[in-house]
Amino acid sequence: MEKVNLSSEIEILTYAELDHIEQTLISRAQAVSRTAYAPYSGFHVGSAILLENGEVMQSSNQENASFPTGICAERLVLGYAGANYPNHAPVMLAVVAQRAGEEAWAGVSPCGICRQTINEAEVRFGKQITMLFLRPDGRVYRAHGISSLLPLKFDDLKS
Ligand code: THU
Repeated sequence: MEKVNLSSEIEILTYAELDHIEQTLISRAQAVSRTAYAPYSGFHVGSAILLENGEVMQSSNQENASFPTGICAERLVLGYAGANYPNHAPVMLAVVAQRAGEEAWAGVSPCGICRQTINEAEVRFGKQITMLFLRPDGRVYRAHGISSLLPLKFDDLKS
């Protein structure tokens, strides 16, 4: 029997350690989280992405009384980017969340379906996406490429 050890490295940075565009993405995600339609979970998520052409766009989560119909912030903004900028790779994505009625930011990291969607964007454009997730302590997780969050994913066993 052989064993394989799958590990990944994720950075933790203070807000001040982020560069200008990284700070912009976090702020845009925070601002758009206010538009979350999340009456069922009370979990308000905001996501912002940067495309390789410098374009930045953002979305919040949008829920539905039929729960599975709701869509996460990350998937919505990636879908919008794919539909409106089909020739420009997303290169960075930020996600933040806040519970209804709370001042503090909650911790968040993308669900499995969103990870698979991020993977598709990487495969589609052949470019890694850097991901930023705001932590409750105000610092930020930074991961380079979806493989660090989704080891041994579907595509890895394709060939
Ligand atoms: N949600 C997101 O929008 N992104 C995530 O990364 C985690 C979860 C949404 C889905 C649902 O509307 C709410 O947060 C609670 O799960």
